[in-house]
Amino acid sequence: MERPSNDRPSVAIIGAGALGSVLARGLADVGYLVRAVLSRTEASAHRLAEDVDAPLAGTDLAQLPPDIPLVFCCVPDDAIAAVAHRLATAQSAWGGRIVAHTSGALTAGVLAPLKEQGAAVLSFHPLQTFQAESGPEVFQDIYVGVEGDVDAVDLGRRLARDLRARPVTLTAEAKMRYHLAAAMASNYLVTLMALVSEVLASAGMSRQKSLALVRPLVEGTWRNLQRHLPEDALTGPIARGDRATVQGHLDALTGHLPHLIPAYAVLGAETVRVAMRGGMLDAEDAQEVLDVLQAALDPSEKPPPADSPT
Ligand SMILES: NC(=O)c1ccc[n+]([C@@H]2O[C@H](COP(=O)([O-])OP(=O)(O)OC[C@H]3O[C@@H](n4cnc5c(N)ncnc54)[C@H](OP(=O)(O)O)[C@@H]3O)[C@@H](O)[C@H]2O)c1
Repeated sequence: MERPSNDRPSVAIIGAGALGSVLARGLADVGYLVRAVLSRTEASAHRLAEDVDAPLAGTDLAQLPPDIPLVFCCVPDDAIAAVAHRLATAQSAWGGRIVAHTSGALTAGVLAPLKEQGAAVLSFHPLQTFQAESGPEVFQDIYVGVEGDVDAVDLGRRLARDLRARPVTLTAEAKMRYHLAAAMASNYLVTLMALVSEVLASAGMSRQKSLALVRPLVEGTWRNLQRHLPEDALTGPIARGDRATVQGHLDALTGHLPHLIPAYAVLGAETVRVAMRGGMLDAEDAQEVLDVLQAALDPSEKPPPADSPT
């Protein structure tokens, strides 16, 4: 752990949960002095304060020393506005101080009651998933979305670099789409793997084995994505315009997992767009694949077999 440094502002952490704990330890590790930890429960506040040698721990936000220049609100998203309001009413000396929250979805605007009292406000969102026990090295090389008042953003960028992370400055307007992308990347990847294991389980494989089966394939695809844009990394039946195989997939779903047809068809249609962007499908081939997918979504639209009665 580096010794506390004079050119680094001292810090208060509000919310001693997963991110608050990791951030407090990370900042302490690179020489920031954590002077106070406040949380909803005494036990959490004291546990983290002890961890980072903070002299003050408690549950009452009015205890926050007014001379701590940097305050991090690491409480759940739906508690940030209430905490900001409580801090603004508990003390009025906010001029020259910076207050940050760590939500990915909310902007610094949610801290308006403190800004009205003179604080510069910041949203500081480390783009990673954390558990309370994660070590300070988890910040290494991750990105941190920073957004808010100019002075606060400057400090946020410096904090990110001190944590050995990479700052990305965002506008308030872009913030929700940044979070949307992050949630899709992390959460939908997990959902996709859940669907894959469901398909393999229906073919008689244990769910554990099924993920082991696709791991080398997924890792190879991820390696390709590190070197190429998605449209240049795409392979498979849709990229080849192989309608018969796409129809085979849909028939297998109809027979065994019909509830997955909408997910397959929607992702398939997006895959057609990726393939077109990469020049793998022309408009005509793309339309033919889309027709197969659309017919599965709406079987009443399917042309009747040639030998059916009219
Ligand atoms: N965890 C992540 O992976 C992650 C990643 C990026 C961003 N974030 C963001 O970081 C923030 C915190 O998330 P988290 O995952 O750390 O949540 P968490 O583990 O649930 O921790 C939240 C902490 O806030 C405390 N708290 C709740 N309401 C409070 C209040 N009114 N006043 C004071 N303290 C209060 C709780 O205290 P007690 O323990 O004392 O009950 C809890 O320890 C959120 O905005 C989240 O979006 C989280």
